[in-house]
Amino acid sequence: MKILLLGCTGQVGWELQRSLSPLGELIALGSNTDTHPGQLCGNLTDLAGLARTVQTLKPNLIVNAAAHTAVDRAESEPELARSINALAPGVLAVEAAKIGAWLVHYSTDYVFDGSGSKPWREGDATGPLSVYGQTKLDGEQAVASHSRHLIFRTSWVYGARGGNFAKTMLRLAAERETLNVIDDQFGAPTSAELLADVTAHAIRAAMQRPELAGLYHCVAGGETSWHGYARHVLQTAQTLGWTLKAGPEQVGATSTASYPTPAQRPLNSRLDTHKLQQAFGLVLPQWQMGVARMLTEITGKN
Ligand SMILES: NC(=O)c1ccc[n+]([C@@H]2O[C@H](COP(=O)([O-])OP(=O)(O)OC[C@H]3O[C@@H](n4cnc5c(N)ncnc54)[C@H](OP(=O)(O)O)[C@@H]3O)[C@@H](O)[C@H]2O)c1
Repeated sequence: MKILLLGCTGQVGWELQRSLSPLGELIALGSNTDTHPGQLCGNLTDLAGLARTVQTLKPNLIVNAAAHTAVDRAESEPELARSINALAPGVLAVEAAKIGAWLVHYSTDYVFDGSGSKPWREGDATGPLSVYGQTKLDGEQAVASHSRHLIFRTSWVYGARGGNFAKTMLRLAAERETLNVIDDQFGAPTSAELLADVTAHAIRAAMQRPELAGLYHCVAGGETSWHGYARHVLQTAQTLGWTLKAGPEQVGATSTASYPTPAQRPLNSRLDTHKLQQAFGLVLPQWQMGVARMLTEITGKN
């Protein structure tokens, strides 16, 4: 099997390089891949180059881990976000359909408006609050127009590689005596490792049973707030021997309303994962497990 991976330098893309490699010949492209005519192109703003790359490689599977993920910046560069998050996935869907390839794509809890407190199910009404959320929803819909697709909506992604909330908390806690973190947004921190592993399992199953194609929510088990997440990160880091000025007790709680940002975020980011677990016979571990692994990895302890 020939696999084309896009966005290979991101948190999820990096882990996919590991989890997809046993499945076949992996061609992993980043955004800086050469855009000269005749060369492979991994830049999602170059729609013609992207189409040409699929036509040249003729992969059996395309996995798109690239996205414009700077949620606040997307508010001031909506066209760039639209190109990367919506138009490029549309090009991939068209080209995948021409050659009968499978297309795997990732989306987000930000397609929802965050109302209520029930975990969102795949069929629930969407209502993005931000440019990022809207462009990701448009991208999902473009990918879903192609029959052989898997779309995984996830939330609060972190990995040992790349920047994320947990690492920011560690940096700030090493510099400051106290922190204030939002306590009225709820979701599940989800490791890039878990997403990459689920992707590899699910694509193998879907290739055997094409009726499994579709949209799935994929997040770690349990839930927390950003405040609970920050406290857990600092607590775990301390047990691993990190020296911090602010420990978990020094993390104060603040509201979304008192911390305005260019992009509005959903308060309820809980995602119901029953569909994924039942369809593929998988179990999604509690979110704390992956956080402990990531902190151990970046601490360099075993
Ligand atoms: N991060 C989260 O909390 C989160 C939450 C929900 C859903 N998701 C979704 O999960 C997926 C993976 O996210 P992630 O956390 O791994 O993101 P990430 O770490 O921010 O990585 C994004 C990747 O996209 C690439 N990219 C950006 N612009 C590009 C372009 N023009 N052409 C090609 N590649 C480009 C980046 O490459 P460069 O660095 O070279 O630009 C990077 O490799 C995305 O679909 C995202 O929307 C993420």
